Amino acid sequence: MSIEVVDVRPHERHYGVYIVKFEDGTERIATVNLTPGKRVYGERLIKWGGLEYREWNPYRSKLAAAILNGLKFVPIAEGTHILYLGAASGTTPSHMSDIVGERGLIYSVEFSPRVFREFMEKLVDQGRRNVIPILGDARFPYQYAHYVKGVDVVYIDVAQPAQAKILADNADYFLKPGGHVMLVIKAMSIDVTAPATETFKQEINTLKERGFDIIETVHLEPYDTAHAMVIAKKKS
Ligand SMILES: C[S@@+](CC[C@H](N)C(=O)[O-])C[C@H]1O[C@@H](n2cnc3c(N)ncnc32)[C@H](O)[C@@H]1O
Repeated sequence: MSIEVVDVRPHERHYGVYIVKFEDGTERIATVNLTPGKRVYGERLIKWGGLEYREWNPYRSKLAAAILNGLKFVPIAEGTHILYLGAASGTTPSHMSDIVGERGLIYSVEFSPRVFREFMEKLVDQGRRNVIPILGDARFPYQYAHYVKGVDVVYIDVAQPAQAKILADNADYFLKPGGHVMLVIKAMSIDVTAPATETFKQEINTLKERGFDIIETVHLEPYDTAHAMVIAKKKS
């Protein structure tokens, strides 16, 4: 039995993010589905006011987790061009695709051919025309330099050692002046023995050394253990 929706309202801070309220009083975040009737990862589809919304699951998407944990600034709106490193099967890229709309672009880099195939099936074959899939390795941005034009945001979620370095290397290639970066730090991929907070500091220091001002850091518990999201801006 499905629970009735009683209200949908825009998020007070984040463009393109909505809060869906159910009759039992619970609330969830959602985005407006760019490809109505189609799901990407089994998420709930919600019809309200002539639009279709896709529930955004914070246990499946670290950007949703960061928003629910109080992230103040997300540098993504209608028309934003994003380079997304570690696209996997497209959960978070799909919600970004909803938010940036037809005028936006998400260059989506993934290095596992099996996962990339799933990305193609779930996003590209389903008609998301603002997504540009790239089978490539984020450690070597020159491999895809001829596909990617200047972007407003570089987002990384690759579960690799040297996450901040890979992000900064890509930003050197592709980030427009005044652009932002979004770094998901998975502490356990960098050092399983060090406390997570030490690893977060180390990655943040790398960003500072590479010329970024840190805007905000949010931890992702309870949705993801020993993960943090950092938003930073390239110094002009
Ligand atoms: C944690 S998952 C990403 C989840 C995805 N960001 C989301 O929220 O929907 C990490 C992904 O990064 C990919 N990856 C790891 N190292 C990579 C690299 N060097 N280049 C490109 N993709 C990489 C992995 O294959 C995996 O699919």
